[in-house]
Amino acid sequence: MPRVRVHQHVNPLAPYFRFTPQPIAIGNIFVNPHLPLHLDIGSARGRFLLKMAETFPDQNFLGVEIREPLVEEANRLARENDLTNLHYEFNNATYSLDILLEKLPADTLQFVTIQFPDPWYKKKHAKRRMVNDNLVETVVEHLTVSGRIFIQTDVDFLAEEMFELFRKNAGLHEIELAENPFPIKTEREMAVEEKGLPVYRAMFIK
Ligand SMILES: C[S@@+](CC[C@H](N)C(=O)[O-])C[C@H]1O[C@@H](n2cnc3c(N)ncnc32)[C@H](O)[C@@H]1O
Repeated sequence: MPRVRVHQHVNPLAPYFRFTPQPIAIGNIFVNPHLPLHLDIGSARGRFLLKMAETFPDQNFLGVEIREPLVEEANRLARENDLTNLHYEFNNATYSLDILLEKLPADTLQFVTIQFPDPWYKKKHAKRRMVNDNLVETVVEHLTVSGRIFIQTDVDFLAEEMFELFRKNAGLHEIELAENPFPIKTEREMAVEEKGLPVYRAMFIK
């Protein structure tokens, strides 16, 4: 089946994307809702989580993505591959991740990944960047004690900006990271590596 075509970027501040989502009920989306949950924010076509869900059947994986056709395509692929530990949600993480996760049971969220989010280079577009104070607060609130957050990007100024937002949260400690701790690379990571560009990474633990 051909890959679904989508806009390269969408403006998360546009009225269309300022909707109020239904809070997820993990009992309705995963066969075993008691498994540890890994949340990938900005999951795009979802291929990273697809391989992670195949590799780690003892975890649940939730992708969050603002481009709805990609979410539909990724959920179709999950179903076709009989992956009952994988699900994607259409959500504007900058604006309403807190509502989406509102009913998440405590002690569920063990891992969060934020990988190569759109940089929105221009200063006047800075408010469109995915990681903001609200997102950090939401993630830290739901993360289990000793849960981890992994962030990577090839854009130096964006790396510093995102890392600072997490560093200033008193509930987190930064841990040394020599390389990507995951056995699977995202599509963007593979493209960046092919070009031989540097990747900036950070890991935080609650
Ligand atoms: C450059 S892509 C990287 C995709 C994937 N993480 C990877 O590493 O290959 C960034 C993704 O984040 C999504 N995104 C951007 N802003 C978002 C937001 N506010 N909420 C949810 N997803 C968002 C984009 O639509 C896009 O799919």
